[in-house]
Amino acid sequence: MTEIESPILSDHVDARMVTGDLDEAIADRNAIVQLDPDHPGFRDPEYRRRRNEIAQIAMKYHPGDPIPDAPYTTEEHQVWSVIWQSLRPAQEKNACAEYFDALTRLSFSDDRIPQLREVNEKVQAISGFRLEPVAGLVQPRVFLENLADGVFLCTQYIRHHSTPLYTPEPDVVHEIVGHGVTLACPRLAELNRLFGQAVKRTTSAEELERLSRVYWFTIEFGVLRENGSVKAYGTGLLSSAGELEEMHEADLRPLDLDAASRENYDPTHFQPVLFCAASFAEMYERLREFLLSW
Ligand SMILES: [Fe+2]
Repeated sequence: MTEIESPILSDHVDARMVTGDLDEAIADRNAIVQLDPDHPGFRDPEYRRRRNEIAQIAMKYHPGDPIPDAPYTTEEHQVWSVIWQSLRPAQEKNACAEYFDALTRLSFSDDRIPQLREVNEKVQAISGFRLEPVAGLVQPRVFLENLADGVFLCTQYIRHHSTPLYTPEPDVVHEIVGHGVTLACPRLAELNRLFGQAVKRTTSAEELERLSRVYWFTIEFGVLRENGSVKAYGTGLLSSAGELEEMHEADLRPLDLDAASRENYDPTHFQPVLFCAASFAEMYERLREFLLSW
């Protein structure tokens, strides 16, 4: 299957959650990104140059400073427009009400990639969460522990313009449209913090893996019922039109966090299994309780 034939398939991939075996060399939160030979931007020296330039922003960044704007090109702003045109109608049909409230408050432009700086200002004013730029992959523990302090480590580059509806790694669209918006929902922001605190109390690799799976099946791929319909609150769903359509085909199981902590997932495909809460309130209460007692 080529990238073109499966245009949205991997749009959701959050590589942070699938890189448990990263070696120590990239344990640092600002490890420079190496593009694989099959990455859509691998043969585009201009794209790679810009990716490195954007990575430098993260590497020079001091927490708390204003985030420098990324030098996006006209082509890249067009990538945003294409994505946004397919995502908006999919979200209107499939996103939960809580998400829409936050989306309205962040008010993205149709034709320009939002800069982390401006999204950060709004999110911070609403929930206290801070977005900080990172160059690329970070280890799951580093990523999750930062949540405890109300810090979301955020990539700033955008996917290659040749594949606007496909990305092999989380990019600024996933970060902003998915995480940025949900972190502007106070209850979801609180759950993110509780995840970080639970991770800080977790010492064994096995337990960290279990917690990462719960994160995957809730914060990344959670669904719930709202007025009789299945709606998304997970960032991996909300940042991919393909996932939002496909989620109705999934095996929807009642929200059971112990079961989720033992359920395997494959980030390279549409998710065949999702855990569905009876309501937003049920999701919030059960996940909160689970994390507090972890
Ligand atoms: Fe994510």
